[in-house]
Amino acid sequence: MNEIKRYDRIWRGLHWGMALAIVVLLVLIEVKGDLPKGPLKGLLTDIHKQLGILVFGLVWWRLVWRLRHRAPPVTPTPSRWMVGLSHGAHGLLYLAMIGIPALGVLFQQARGNAVVFLGWTLPWILNDDTGISYAKPLKELHETLGNALIWLIVLHGVAAFYHHWIRRDDTLLRMVGKPSVAPADFVVEQR
Ligand code: HEM
Ligand code: HEM
Repeated sequence: MNEIKRYDRIWRGLHWGMALAIVVLLVLIEVKGDLPKGPLKGLLTDIHKQLGILVFGLVWWRLVWRLRHRAPPVTPTPSRWMVGLSHGAHGLLYLAMIGIPALGVLFQQARGNAVVFLGWTLPWILNDDTGISYAKPLKELHETLGNALIWLIVLHGVAAFYHHWIRRDDTLLRMVGKPSVAPADFVVEQR
């Protein structure tokens, strides 16, 4: 019987929940760019910001989880370069989940806009009182890195399906729950 050692529930929940939040916030801000001026534009930007701050909050929990637990092994074992590449890509995804929302908050504050998350005003780190306008370069960096993240996510998703369909290892299955109807050789959850 094949034994699939999965990421635990919390890890899977954080992965897919945050992946959904990030994809939605990216779609909303892209759609917003194509809309005519009006209240809908502001609403989409507000939801983008709320989801972005949520991601920034959750990523610390996920990082602690990752540092305190071992990722389950992949069967059959991939080559060393493949493991190195995936660690590099995961590291970049973590940096993006921390750096991009932080830049979003900073550029808003540099513009003089208070950033409010679910009714709570975030502490001011930057504003334009200094007379130096950081807002424009911070906004450009936020957008450039955000757009680069789209490509990184596409590569990450393609890699997952390459493992599943071409290499036929259990990389992807480790990140999903048990199917409701389990084939006979597909049933063991480790945690
Ligand atoms: C994971 C988190 C985030 C990602 C991946 C992300 C990504 C992006 C991207 C790609 C754009 C540019 C879209 C385009 O090319 O038109 C953008 C725009 C924007 N982001 Fe974010 N963002 C995140 C979080 C935040 C946060 C936390 C804030 C503020 C609190 C924020 C505020 C904004 C605003 C206001 C814009 C629109 C700028 C404009 O058109 O004037 N973002 N974001
Ligand atoms: C597009 C859909 C996605 C698919 C199909 C997918 C699939 C996977 C799979 C199969 C793994 C396990 C890889 C391994 O153990 O080597 C994984 C891990 C990971 N994924 Fe995704 N993913 C997706 C979206 C995302 C998004 C949007 C992000 C964040 C921006 C993300 C961040 C990560 C990270 C950081 C890991 C490493 C494990 C961890 O620490 O959570 N993924 N993903």
